[in-house]
Amino acid sequence: MVGIDTAFNYQRFNSHRHLAHVAGDLLDDFTISTKVGFFPGSDPAACALHSLDPRRLREAVEQSAESLGRVPDVVFLHSPERSLTGRAPEEALDAACITLADAQRAGLCRAWGIATWDPRSLITAPPPTLPSVLLLRSGLSVAHPILTACERLIELCDLPATNVWGMSPFGGDAREAAWQEVDLTDFTPASAPNTDIAFRVAYDLPPVTRVAVGTTNRDHLRSLVAATNLPIIPEAVTTYRGLTREHDR
Ligand SMILES: NC(=O)c1ccc[n+]([C@@H]2O[C@H](COP(=O)([O-])OP(=O)(O)OC[C@H]3O[C@@H](n4cnc5c(N)ncnc54)[C@H](OP(=O)(O)O)[C@@H]3O)[C@@H](O)[C@H]2O)c1
Repeated sequence: MVGIDTAFNYQRFNSHRHLAHVAGDLLDDFTISTKVGFFPGSDPAACALHSLDPRRLREAVEQSAESLGRVPDVVFLHSPERSLTGRAPEEALDAACITLADAQRAGLCRAWGIATWDPRSLITAPPPTLPSVLLLRSGLSVAHPILTACERLIELCDLPATNVWGMSPFGGDAREAAWQEVDLTDFTPASAPNTDIAFRVAYDLPPVTRVAVGTTNRDHLRSLVAATNLPIIPEAVTTYRGLTREHDR
């Protein structure tokens, strides 16, 4: 099944309403995951502010379901590492996780998870209340220390691959010169553009069953969907992991 990943703060906090408006009845044909953790600041023109305040998180989950017109399949705690720098970070993370678990119990989402760009601070003191889904950076743009931390978090949460999702396979920008110049042909016996190979490899670094990719282009979307069937040479992935490990040593 194809899913849509969004967040409370995307499109200047209008993404849920916009999605419900554009997709209408079709929305039920997709799984929907969203994220809470960024909130409007006092200056609407300024960047969104991050917070793990349980009251704000709960309100955001409630508003998300209301604006979407349906309960999301997954609500992620959005980049909790952004607010784990103050005093008592473990308590703040734990309270946030309990808030999302309570929201799930109240029927405001089917499952809850953690979406993290950099899980290194999460693996030092994982919360006692563990998520049932993880959304982690995946693919060739992820540096070895982050990849290792992702794998450790998966282990700590004891999740099957079906509950581990990847994101941002191009590190946010597929127009970077590196994506045109790098030779990825060792990863597959098939002939395919670099973007397709990089997207497919993102399912294996670390092993995930979904990859959230951003596109505004139908042809790109079509090509990405087809790329999920590209055969990948497992030994090439192993060799790549070995090389990145050596590089960071
Ligand atoms: N902290 C977090 O939780 C967090 C942070 C970042 C991202 N995310 C999630 O990850 C998703 C993806 O991240 P992202 O959009 O930042 O990065 P991304 O998926 O790595 O890259 C998106 C870029 O790749 C281009 N692209 C996609 N397919 C392509 C193709 N076949 N050929 C050429 N270019 C292609 C897109 O351009 P076109 O529009 O031209 O296709 C877009 O500019 C987000 O939507 C979000 O759900 C979560």
